[in-house]
Amino acid sequence: MAAGSHYASPREFPAVCGTDGVGHLDDGTRVFFGGPRRPYGAMAERTVVPRAFCFPIPDGLDDSSAAAVANPGVSAWLSLTHRAKLAPGETALVLGATGVTGKLAVQIAKLMGASRVIAAGRNQQALAALRDRGADATIRIDRPDAELRDAFAHEAGETGFQVIIDYLWGHPTEVLLAAVTRSEFASAGLEVRLVQAGESAGPAISLPAAALRSTALTILGTAGIPSRDLLTDAFNQVMARAASGEIRVDTERLPLADIEQAWSRPQTGGRRVVIEPLGD
Ligand SMILES: NC(=O)c1ccc[n+]([C@@H]2O[C@H](COP(=O)([O-])OP(=O)(O)OC[C@H]3O[C@@H](n4cnc5c(N)ncnc54)[C@H](OP(=O)(O)O)[C@@H]3O)[C@@H](O)[C@H]2O)c1
Repeated sequence: MAAGSHYASPREFPAVCGTDGVGHLDDGTRVFFGGPRRPYGAMAERTVVPRAFCFPIPDGLDDSSAAAVANPGVSAWLSLTHRAKLAPGETALVLGATGVTGKLAVQIAKLMGASRVIAAGRNQQALAALRDRGADATIRIDRPDAELRDAFAHEAGETGFQVIIDYLWGHPTEVLLAAVTRSEFASAGLEVRLVQAGESAGPAISLPAAALRSTALTILGTAGIPSRDLLTDAFNQVMARAASGEIRVDTERLPLADIEQAWSRPQTGGRRVVIEPLGD
């Protein structure tokens, strides 16, 4: 968002960066907060946020994990529950599973009772580590299209993916759709719910009619900010599971003075940088 490449990036400057964080209200309550009123942002010693976007944090969870897990965790939770309506026993594919949000989606899909969770991404180390966090199979996506298409088709098997959470979009999604598109008249098979949740690989895809006509594919978005009740429930579920260790987020703490270094280096391995305006 600070780079201006996100659809919700600020249009008026100057603006303080940072959309969410952990802080203390004036009465001392430790909260996760979101939605600072522009031009104010989260990367500051004090900020201005709507009271409705302040949520108390369970005691067992440290500041860094709480700051890092809330946004991607709630997003992954809602994508899987509210949007995809993942049911126990279904197969879920996470495309872009090596990012912070994708890694959480893998863990949450398994917690929700998915019978198989397939993690697809570029970073081999991150993919291997996901085996210990609920992935039953992994697919490397940085390979020739034909190979990737075969890998998707192999993992889809006879029954296919019932849920796909897509953090990449762009070319990898086009290859995935080619893999699930049928080339003959046949029963469309089980319903496939693809939730468009991110665009790390590209902002657009070319969508062949055959992908929609030969399969029972439904493409959904994440649908903006949900109702307060839904958001609160998802937040409480994610925080409780993070506090109990059922889901884990990888973090790295940096002082605000090092923000330029944090932004200019490539982000790899699905680790969320947590900025500390106050330092220790
Ligand atoms: N809709 C929502 O509510 C919501 C919430 C959170 C995030 N998002 C979106 O979801 C996406 C991922 O977020 P994140 O938090 O997981 O980000 P992140 O931690 O920065 O991870 C970025 C991910 O994108 C992958 N990637 C980057 N460039 C790529 C490319 N050219 N081709 C293929 N893969 C590429 C990385 O793969 P490797 O590490 O394997 O190289 C990594 O998996 C972003 O678009 C973000 O805006 C949406």
